[in-house]
Amino acid sequence: MAEHTSFDLAGHETFMHKEIHEQPAAVDRALRGRLDQRFATAHLGGVALSARDVLGIRRVKILGCGSAHYAGLLGAQLIESLSRIPADAEVASEFRFRNPVIDPHTLYVAVSQSGETYDTLAAVQEVTRKGGTVIGVVNTPGSSIARACGTGVHLHAGPEISVTSTKTFTVTAVVFALLALQLGRVRDLGPAEGHRLMDALAVLPGQIEQILASEDEAAAVGRRIADASSAFFVGRVGGYPIALEGAQKLKEVSYVHAEAYPGAELKHGPLALIDPAVPTIVVLPDDHLLDKNLASVSEIRARSGPVIAVTDADIDDAGFAAVLRVPHTEPELAPVLHSIPLQLVAYHAALALGRDIDKPRNLAKSVTVE
Ligand code: G6P
Repeated sequence: MAEHTSFDLAGHETFMHKEIHEQPAAVDRALRGRLDQRFATAHLGGVALSARDVLGIRRVKILGCGSAHYAGLLGAQLIESLSRIPADAEVASEFRFRNPVIDPHTLYVAVSQSGETYDTLAAVQEVTRKGGTVIGVVNTPGSSIARACGTGVHLHAGPEISVTSTKTFTVTAVVFALLALQLGRVRDLGPAEGHRLMDALAVLPGQIEQILASEDEAAAVGRRIADASSAFFVGRVGGYPIALEGAQKLKEVSYVHAEAYPGAELKHGPLALIDPAVPTIVVLPDDHLLDKNLASVSEIRARSGPVIAVTDADIDDAGFAAVLRVPHTEPELAPVLHSIPLQLVAYHAALALGRDIDKPRNLAKSVTVE
């Protein structure tokens, strides 16, 4: 592979840093031409489904690996809540090896940045061989997964060089919001609701820009986490895939051990490990679960665990080791914003530890083997 020049880095020290900062432009590209003001819906050109086809969908099953799977977990929640079609996400390698029932009324969605992940490709082949319909959500048109699916959505995130996904995770989440809107507007989602989401989507790039402008605060948290031997990431519902992705980022680039849990699961095991040396990062959306999330925070504090909040809620800083604030958006899109400070935390933890950030040990950008 050719050496990258400093010109490619556009003044950034690493591709991960550059790609984190490219997110406002990447999200803007992913949205461009896809919002339909007249009918308060989204148009994803590659989704070749008629309204009648959409009405016939009984389930949505999202398949992917790694960060693509975590984005798929969020995507499934968006689709189920906005279109009221039952949806879930499954790791592609597990799916392909368990002899799954393929249902002709299920819409299968394969998610992959590279379009070359072998396990995701094999899952697509298993579905199509058994007569199922799969659409791709990929960042690489012409890739093996894009070709195997036949139809699908291009992310338009631009090339991602760093092994660790950042902008492709964010853009995948945004594309799932568009897909959920498109499916929802054929089903039960009314035009006012459609406009509510479209308005929130349109301002996301500027809001991401705002979060990136407070990088110093996330950097201070990153340096603090660099001293820990282990960290927990906690979230509920939309916050849970963000906790999973936040823990994954930290592990990948800093090699600090991290685990993610749904908030209510803390009491079923992990609380035993909480002490002053183990920080917990809590995703705290301003939604109907805020009180329950604050109760989880109290459980951690009662064991003297330091808590770092990522939030768009108007909470008091007292009692938190740090509070990373993000702008307010519609509840469905809050996870997209909550994930950005966690990328910066992982990045700055890795920087403090002197890691090879763009090429973490033992990992590959694209896993084309089993
Ligand atoms: C590798 C990368 C991950 C990525 C996963 C899936 O493990 O290191 O960052 O999430 O593959 O890649 P894909 O290209 O299918 O999104």
